[in-house]
Amino acid sequence: MAISSVLPVSPDYFSDALQLSMLANLSQHGWSQHRLFLPETLRMLLAAECGSLAASGALKPAGVGRTALLTLQPAIRGDQILWLNPGQSQACDDYLAIMESLRLVLNQHFYLGLEEYESHFAFYAPGSAYRQHLDRFRDDDSRTVSVVIYLNQDWLSEQGGALRLHPQGLASQDVLPTGATMVLFLSAEMLHEVLPATRDRLSLTGWFRRRR
Ligand code: OGA
Ligand code: MN
Repeated sequence: MAISSVLPVSPDYFSDALQLSMLANLSQHGWSQHRLFLPETLRMLLAAECGSLAASGALKPAGVGRTALLTLQPAIRGDQILWLNPGQSQACDDYLAIMESLRLVLNQHFYLGLEEYESHFAFYAPGSAYRQHLDRFRDDDSRTVSVVIYLNQDWLSEQGGALRLHPQGLASQDVLPTGATMVLFLSAEMLHEVLPATRDRLSLTGWFRRRR
């Protein structure tokens, strides 16, 4: 049986209102946040896929640094990840198609020359965290815009697990990791961290890259 896409992805997936608030927030504050960014059916399918990948042992401890220099430092970074490849599942392909439209929108408005998108599932078991960091590597400045989409549902703030952003000169901002909320920020500038949670925390994280 052919599995069909759960959504029609067209260039106008992004409403004018969403584009306006996203672009204004990104240029004024260096980050932007949107609730219910994915259709609920797609959020559920991606959450189920991430959960079963975690249960089957397909996710691997994430390292710190770039491929050749990568080291495992669970006290600094405790998530487990799986990089996405096209064709891995219909839900992942639908997500990648949405991110491709987002790449075009960002390029249209900011002339960033974003050429590629790389993305992984991330699973934080209870107690695991990711200490304060920037997403751009010291020896590779191609990562330009970071995107995180949260796949859990019904998250309570007392369960922890917030993404804490540290915008320069402003108070820190916490984003609850739930409900297909999407956060976008500038990879080279925004210091951020993931606080430990009391329950499993599922997300998709990705980076739009310029040519190296
Ligand atoms: C990362 C990261 C944030 C989050 O993977 O680099 O900072 O909220 N993730 O999961
Ligand atoms: Mn990060």
